[in-house]
Amino acid sequence: MNDKMNFNNDLLSSPIRVGMIGAGYMAKLHSLSMRNLAGLTDDPRDHFELIRLVDANTELAQHEAMRWGWLEADSDWRSVTRSDDIDLVDIATPNDSHYEMCLDAFANGKHVLCEKPLAVNRHQAAEMARQAQASGKVHMVNFTYRAWPAIAQARQLIQAGKLGRIRHFEGHFFQDHNNDATIPLHWRFRKTQAGAGALGDIGSHIIDLARFLVGDIASVSALTERYIAQRPLPHDRSQLGDVDVDDFAAALVRFENGATGSIKAGWALPGFKNDVYFVVVGEKGAIRFSWERSNELQIFDATDEPQISGYRTVLIGRAHPGAELFWFPALGGEQGLGVTAQGMGYGDAFALSFRHYANAIRTSISSAPNFIDGLRCCEIIDAILLSAIDGRWVNVEKLCI
Ligand SMILES: NC(=O)c1ccc[n+]([C@@H]2O[C@H](COP(=O)([O-])OP(=O)(O)OC[C@H]3O[C@@H](n4cnc5c(N)ncnc54)[C@H](O)[C@@H]3O)[C@@H](O)[C@H]2O)c1
Repeated sequence: MNDKMNFNNDLLSSPIRVGMIGAGYMAKLHSLSMRNLAGLTDDPRDHFELIRLVDANTELAQHEAMRWGWLEADSDWRSVTRSDDIDLVDIATPNDSHYEMCLDAFANGKHVLCEKPLAVNRHQAAEMARQAQASGKVHMVNFTYRAWPAIAQARQLIQAGKLGRIRHFEGHFFQDHNNDATIPLHWRFRKTQAGAGALGDIGSHIIDLARFLVGDIASVSALTERYIAQRPLPHDRSQLGDVDVDDFAAALVRFENGATGSIKAGWALPGFKNDVYFVVVGEKGAIRFSWERSNELQIFDATDEPQISGYRTVLIGRAHPGAELFWFPALGGEQGLGVTAQGMGYGDAFALSFRHYANAIRTSISSAPNFIDGLRCCEIIDAILLSAIDGRWVNVEKLCI
C-alpha cells in the first residue's frame, strides 16, 4: 500500500479563485474563514483559493499575504479586478473606495463580495446595485450577523409564526472602544471616507438585522450625537483635526408591515464591549439576543402558564442553523442533532458567511445579503442622517434599480 496521501483532485477541480483588496482588520477574518472552510464543510466545492492580496500599503500586503497563505501580494487593486486568474473580488477597504472597485470588478466579469456599508451614500449604492444586476455576476455584502446560528434561528421562528404578528423591534449595536480620545482621526472619523460614523460602521449591522428579522423600514425619526469633536492627526499626533461623523445615533422607526421599532448605534459608550442586541416582540411572544452572550437565544412564549412565564435560555448548538459546521462530535442519534453546544465565536460567524457566499457562487444566485440589501441599508442610513439634521420624521426613499 502506498502510504502517501492520494487526494481526489476532481473534488477540488474548481476552487473559487479570490483576489482581496484591503489587508487591514477584515483581511484577517476573511482569510481565516476562507482557509478554514475547506476543512470545515463536507462539500469540497466550498473551496477558496487565496490568489492575491492587495493593499495600498505594500509592506502590509506582503506581510499579511505571507501570514495567511496568499500566493501573491500587490499594491494596485486593478491587479485583481482586471486579472484573468480571479473569479471573486473581495473588497475590504474604507467605504469610499467600494464604489470604484465594485464597478470595475463587475465591468471585468468578476463576482463581488463587498464589505458593509456598501457605499458612503444611497446614490452610489444604487448605481452599484444596478451594475451588479446588469453584470449577471454574483453580488454579496458582508452582513456577517445574518449567518450567526442564534440569529438565523430567531428568523426561522419568526417566519414560522412563533411570535404571531410582530409588534415591535428594539435593536442596538453598542461598543466602547472609541471613547478613547487618543485614537487618531483615521478614516472611520471622516465623513468623506466613511459616509457616517457609528451609524454606518456598526449601525449598518443592526439596520440589516432589523430588515432580516422584521422587514423593510418605511420611515424614521432620529437624532445623532458627537462626543469627541477632535482627534489627533494620524501623521502628526501633536495636532488635532475635526471629527465630522456621529459617535451615536438613535432612530424611532416604522416598518412597512406596521410594526414599530427603535435602532441605536454608538461606539463610545463605556461598558458596552460589543453588544449587538435585539428583541423582537410579537403578539404571541418575544425573542431576544445579545452578542455579549452570543451562544444563547432567549425565547418568551406568552402562552406559558403564569407560574412559569418568563424567558427561556436556549444554548446554541448542533440543532441550530449553521452550527453543525463547528466542533460538535457526531453522536449518531436518529436525527444526528444531539444536544452538544461547545460554543462558537466571531471568526466562526465569518466562516458561516463565507460558506453562504461559496454556495451563492456555485449556484449563481445572489441570495441575500446582496447589493440590494446593501442599498436598502444605505437608504435607511441616509434617512436617519437627514431626520437628525431636520428634526422631523423622514420617509425612507427607495431608489429604483
Ligand atoms: N462585516 C463586518 O463585521 C466588518 C467589520 C469591520 C469592518 N468592516 C468593513 O470592512 C471594510 C474595511 O474595514 P477594516 O476594519 O478592515 O479597515 P482597516 O483600516 O483595518 O483596513 C483597510 C485597508 O485598506 C487599505 N486601503 C485603503 N485604500 C486602498 C486602496 N485604494 N487600495 C488598496 N488598499 C487600500 C488600507 O491601507 C488598509 O490597510 C470597511 O468597509 C468596514 O466597514 C466590516
